[in-house]
Amino acid sequence: MAEAGKGGRESAEPKGKTVLVEFENGIAWVILNRPAKRNAMNPEMNSEMVRVLDALETDERCKVLVLTGAGDSFTAGMDLREYFRSTDKMRHVERVRIYREAQHWQWVRLMNYYKPTIAMVNGWCFGGAFTPLISCDLAIAAEEAKFGLSEINWGILPGGNVSKALHLLNRRAALYYIMTGETFDGNKAAEMGLVNEAVPLKKLRARTVALANRLMEKNPTVLRQAKVAFKNVEHMPWDVAADYLSAKNEQGILLDPERGREQGLKQFLDDKSYRPGLSAYKRGA
Ligand code: COA
Repeated sequence: MAEAGKGGRESAEPKGKTVLVEFENGIAWVILNRPAKRNAMNPEMNSEMVRVLDALETDERCKVLVLTGAGDSFTAGMDLREYFRSTDKMRHVERVRIYREAQHWQWVRLMNYYKPTIAMVNGWCFGGAFTPLISCDLAIAAEEAKFGLSEINWGILPGGNVSKALHLLNRRAALYYIMTGETFDGNKAAEMGLVNEAVPLKKLRARTVALANRLMEKNPTVLRQAKVAFKNVEHMPWDVAADYLSAKNEQGILLDPERGREQGLKQFLDDKSYRPGLSAYKRGA
C-alpha cells in the first residue's frame, strides 16, 4: 500500500484500495471506501486501515484525523460475506489473525491514537462500526444517519468489542438497542452520548472542519496528554488516579516545547493579557 521511495524508504503517502486518505489544512480525512458494499469492513480494509493509521501518526500533514465513509454510509459493519462466512472455512489460527487485524485498528490503535481523532458519521452505521466510532475521541453525526446494533438479527451478539465499547452509553440504552436491534438516528445518538452532536447532513463536513480547527488551535502536547490521561484514569482507584495525573502533568510540562503552563501563568499573572474564561493563552508568545 505505501510506496517504496528512494533508498528503500516508504513514502509517507498512505493509500489503499479500500481506504482513501485526503489531506486538507491539517486534517487527514480517512475514508472507508467500499461504497457499493456500504463500506462494510472486509479483511483487506482492516489490513489497510492498520497501515494507514500507522503512517498518519507520524505524518506532519495530519494534525487531526477524521474517520468517515464514502457515499451514503459510515460503514455497514463487518463484512458478512468476507469477514464472517469466508473465514468460517479457514483454520482457526488464520481466522484469529484476521479478527486480530480488525481489532488492531478499530480500537487498539484508535483508542490510543497519538493525534486527536473525530468520527464523522455520514450515514449507515451498523454493528462493528460502533467500535471505531466509540474509539475516536470525538464524533459528529448527520441527523439523517442511521445507527443499529443489528447483530441480534444475525444470530450473534455484538462482538469485536462492540459490547465493551457500548459501556459509553447508559446501561438501559445499550441493552435496549443490543436486545431489540432497533435503529436510531443522529439526534438520538447525540442524546445518548454516542456522538457529541448531530447536525443536518449538508452541514456535517463544515461542522467537522470547525471542530478540527478548534483542536488545531490548541497546544498539541497538552491536548494529547489531556486525552490520554482522561482515558487512563477511568479504571484507576482515586488515589492512584491522583498520583498518575500529577505525574502525567509533570511529564507534560517537561515534554511541552511551547511551555504552555509557563506562558499561561505569565500572560494571566504578569502581562494580564489573557483571561481563560474569555480566550486561550497566546501560543508562541
Ligand atoms: N456485509 C457484507 N455486505 C454488505 C453489508 C455487510 N455488512 N452491508 C451491505 N452489504 C452489501 C449488500 O450485500 C449489497 O451487496 P450486493 O450489491 O452485492 O448485493 C450492497 O452492500 C448494498 O447493500 P444494500 O442492502 O442493497 O443497500 P441499501 O442501501 O438498500 O441498505 C443497509 C443499506 C446498510 C441498510 C443494508 O445493506 C444492511 O442492512 N446491511 C447490513 C448491516 C448490518 O447488519 N451490519 C452488521 C453486521 S454484524
